[in-house]
Amino acid sequence: MSHKLGLIRIFFQISKSFACERSVINDATKTDTSWVGLYYGQFQNQLKGKIVLELGCGDCLNAAVMAKLGAKVYANDISQKSGKIIKELNSKCNFQFPLQFIEGDFLFAEVNHDYFDFVIGKAFVHHLTEEQELEFTKKIVTILKPNGVVRYFEPAVNSKFLDYLRWLTPVPGRPSIIQRNKFKNWKLNDPHPERDNSSKHYKIIGNEYFEYTKIVPIGAIERFCKLIPTSKYNRPLRRISYKVERLLPKSLNLLLTRSHLIEYKNPKKNYR
Ligand SMILES: C[S@@+](CC[C@H](N)C(=O)[O-])C[C@H]1O[C@@H](n2cnc3c(N)ncnc32)[C@H](O)[C@@H]1O
Repeated sequence: MSHKLGLIRIFFQISKSFACERSVINDATKTDTSWVGLYYGQFQNQLKGKIVLELGCGDCLNAAVMAKLGAKVYANDISQKSGKIIKELNSKCNFQFPLQFIEGDFLFAEVNHDYFDFVIGKAFVHHLTEEQELEFTKKIVTILKPNGVVRYFEPAVNSKFLDYLRWLTPVPGRPSIIQRNKFKNWKLNDPHPERDNSSKHYKIIGNEYFEYTKIVPIGAIERFCKLIPTSKYNRPLRRISYKVERLLPKSLNLLLTRSHLIEYKNPKKNYR
């Protein structure tokens, strides 16, 4: 989170210099997993003049980046904090189209039909139950243009063994699963519902509601960089690992992956 807050501060400070903004965006989209994933395939070059809705915009940094890249961005979050950040971003950044905040649960929000080119979710869908995800998907189908695209970047759980290893390893703020009582207490406040986060799950939903579905695994090798102590080599190593994992056979890459880009294209409008 502190890295993210640092990025927001940089965004405010450099918002007058396009070259600096570009270099921050370039660095993040080559190094930081969620940015590497969401911007996979040079997404930054697809945004100019497009109408975009970001769901679960959180700290609004990605919404700001998309607006800086020339998109007209609507940002939704259930938390009012995001609305306050958007006000500040609009007053300090020189956006061609100021960010528009849609407050509250997306399912109750009034949004134009056939209006958006893109619906974006960055580390958002795994916060929904599978039932909520279905309701969200049905609404997204109605608000996207017929050639509209959904892009989600989400954690992936495709190997039970690797997932168990992840729970075994304590991280700051989350004890290991073998520290039973501490883990149980931590779980009580965990905002993530029990749900299927596999690539297969997203593929099934995509095939049902959209003409095209693509899943791109991200982090099969990069996930192991977290085990290396922080040093000046950490970020370069991560950049190399994203390139090396592209060389793995797709099935192995999918099995080992830590996260994935999910892309759905052309909503099946007969679901209205
Ligand atoms: C893990 S955060 C991701 C934030 C941001 N996209 C990012 O990449 O940093 C998930 C966000 O989803 C929001 N959220 C959860 N349920 C929601 C809902 N039903 N409607 C809108 N936002 C929701 C939370 O408030 C939170 O800001």
